[in-house]
Parts: sequence; C-alpha cells; structure tokens
Amino acid sequence: MEFSPGLRGVIAGETSISTVGKEGTSLRYRGYDAIELTKNNTYEEVASLIIKDSLDGDEFKEAFLKHYNNKALEDETLSKNIENLKSIHPKGMHPMDLLRTIVSGGEEMDSDTEIESIARISATVCFAIASYHKADTNSLSDKYLVASSLLPNDASDEMLEALDDMLILYAEHGFNASTFATRVTASTRADLTGAIVSGIATLKGELHGGANERAVELINSFNTVEEAEKGIYSLLDEKKKIMGFGHGVYKVQDPRSPVVKNWVDQLVDNDFSKNRFEIAKKIDQIMDEEKNLFPNVDFYGGLLLAELGFEVDLFTPIFVAGRSIGWAAHYFEQREQDILIRPAAKYIGPSER
Ligand SMILES: CC(C)(COP(=O)(O)OP(=O)(O)OC[C@H]1O[C@@H](n2cnc3c(N)ncnc32)[C@H](O)[C@@H]1OP(=O)(O)O)[C@@H](O)C(=O)NCCC(=O)NCCS
Repeated sequence: MEFSPGLRGVIAGETSISTVGKEGTSLRYRGYDAIELTKNNTYEEVASLIIKDSLDGDEFKEAFLKHYNNKALEDETLSKNIENLKSIHPKGMHPMDLLRTIVSGGEEMDSDTEIESIARISATVCFAIASYHKADTNSLSDKYLVASSLLPNDASDEMLEALDDMLILYAEHGFNASTFATRVTASTRADLTGAIVSGIATLKGELHGGANERAVELINSFNTVEEAEKGIYSLLDEKKKIMGFGHGVYKVQDPRSPVVKNWVDQLVDNDFSKNRFEIAKKIDQIMDEEKNLFPNVDFYGGLLLAELGFEVDLFTPIFVAGRSIGWAAHYFEQREQDILIRPAAKYIGPSER
C-alpha cells in the first residue's frame, strides 16, 4: 500500500455530510452550496441541515435556548469554575484550554435526541465564551440566536448577520484534522462529549483553527502598509509560513474567504480598522504575487472577529462554537458506520537487533 504523508489525498472514510474542494474551490453541505446558505439561511437552520438533513431550525433553537437558559441560571457556578481554572494556572490558561475542560465536565443525557445533545454542548460553549468575554449577552435574538449569545446586547443587526455567516462557514469542513480526530474517537464507540473534546484539542493548533489568531497577530504587528510590505518579504526570505494562507484541499480558492472579506469591508468604520484592512490586503497581494497562495478562511476571518470586538484569544473558541455542529454530525455518522479507525504505520526505526 502506498504511503501518503499526512494522509494527503487518502480517502479515509465515507460521508454524506459535505464535499470540500470539488473543482478546487467549492464547499457543499449535504448538497447545498455553503455560500448560498450564508445568503438565505441562519446558522440554526444550517446546523439542523448538517445534523439531520433538514433546514427547519426550530428544534435546534428550542434545545439551544433551553440549555443556554439553564447555563444562565448556573451563571455563578460556571463563572466560578472559570475563575478557579484560571487561578490553578497562574500564567494564564488559554480560553481553548478552559473550553476543553468545561465541555469535558458536561453531562450527557441518554434521553437526548441527537439535536438536543449537540445543542447542550453548543450552549455550554457559547455560555463559556460569553462568560470569558465578560460581555453582557443575555438579550438573545430570535433570528440569530447563537450569534446573539456571543455578541454584546447592543450589537447591530449587521454584526449579528456577519457572525451568523462566520458560524455557518465554520460549521463543517469534511475530514479536516479536528473532525477526523472526532471520528477516530467516535469509532471506538466512545461518547459524544469525549469526541468533541478531541475536536477542541485538535482545533487549537496553529496549523488548524489557531491560524486565525496568528494571522491577526501578524497583521497587527505592522503599523503601515509599507512596513507590512517589507515585513512579509523578509518573512518569505526566511522561508517562514504566513498564517492564514494556503490550504490542504482547496487548490484554486477558499470559497469562504471572499464572504468574510466582504463583511470586513462592510464593517470597517474607523481609521485604525481601515488601515488594518489595507495592511491585510497588501499581505494578500504579496502572497498571491510571490507564492501564488490564496487566503484561507482564517486570514480575513480573524480580522472579521476582531472587527466584531472579540479579543484574539477568543477567535478559536468562536470557531469551536461553529464547528461543534460538524463534529457532532460526523460523530453520529461514524457511530452509525461502526468501523474502528485503525490505520497502519510505515516503520522507519532500527532494523531487528
Ligand atoms: C494549510 C497548510 C498546512 C496546507 O498545507 P499543504 O497544502 O500540504 O502545503 P505544504 O505545507 O506542503 O506547503 C507546500 C508549499 O507551499 C508553501 N506554503 C504553504 N502554505 C504557506 C504559507 N501559509 N506561507 C508560506 N508558504 C506556504 C510551503 O512552504 C511549501 O513550499 P515548498 O514546496 O517550497 O516547501 C499550509 O498551507 C499552511 O501551513 N498554512 C498556514 C496555516 C494555516 O493558515 N492554516 C489554516 C488552514 S484553514
């Protein structure tokens, strides 16, 4: 059998949830174009589509609301847990580690439907992010329920819609590293919570979800377009990877990137933001000219989350809020297939001795 480093190009399983990168650029959730879904549907509808192939988002909304309100009643306990966890780690705990720990402690109910069990986890994630963010997010929107649980009460409709689109685009992406980790855990017949925890742990790395944080840190490290130009050329000379560019599957374009870039364009409204957007576009231009590489969802995605007021270390947790749906759908699909994932390894150690 041929060896493919990083399993690139290897078909490692069957799925009916999404197709990624057909014709080098498209993304479809159960046959629907994900970009069209951002125009016509909400995250809750797309979540239902991904989990149970129905665009009726009511069951998900109801279950999310029920669990979010439960969490709100436990506000003090959860906030205390977060503070305790922070104090155990005096140097500061990354919110992804907090999220992983908090989700891990969650309870599962045998009586839950698939939608209820993931809505419970989703509500926990959103509540933990809101507690960490310390924003007042208790006024929930009927239309953009999940997005409104993450944004401050005074967020505009435009901001809610932008975050709703971001969550839709984060929701699912085939056999990416964190989803594959989730499926490996599911394949042993482990529980959903454990599988989601595997997903969170895997998403944290900078070659995966963490790229959005690194991308914005890079953009923020330059004060002017000229500085950015010089800086990127010298990083490329040093053969450094520029976070937020390139993709393991898309070969032509990441279709999610123009949607998020467009939102940044719409939301920038002050000199600082405008300058930052110009810096980002210059980096994008240089990467295209010098490396023929396109921005992936994380480059302008990070910038969008910054425009929406999130601190950099909350970007990947927001990614979790969106992607937990995809992880859950893959968990259920893998459980249904009931095949243990157990690949072989090419031995490169010492010969027999
Ligand atoms: C996502 C990623 C892992 C895809 O990897 P891949 O398609 O397997 O490509 P490789 O890592 O093998 O790189 C192929 C070539 O392109 C270069 N390249 C790929 N991404 C690059 C980047 N972001 N910056 C600079 N060069 C890059 C590599 O250095 C390599 O060059 P070489 O052939 O001269 O050695 C890779 O593009 C990357 O590390 N990007 C940055 C992290 C990121 O944004 N991740 C989020 C993904 S949604």
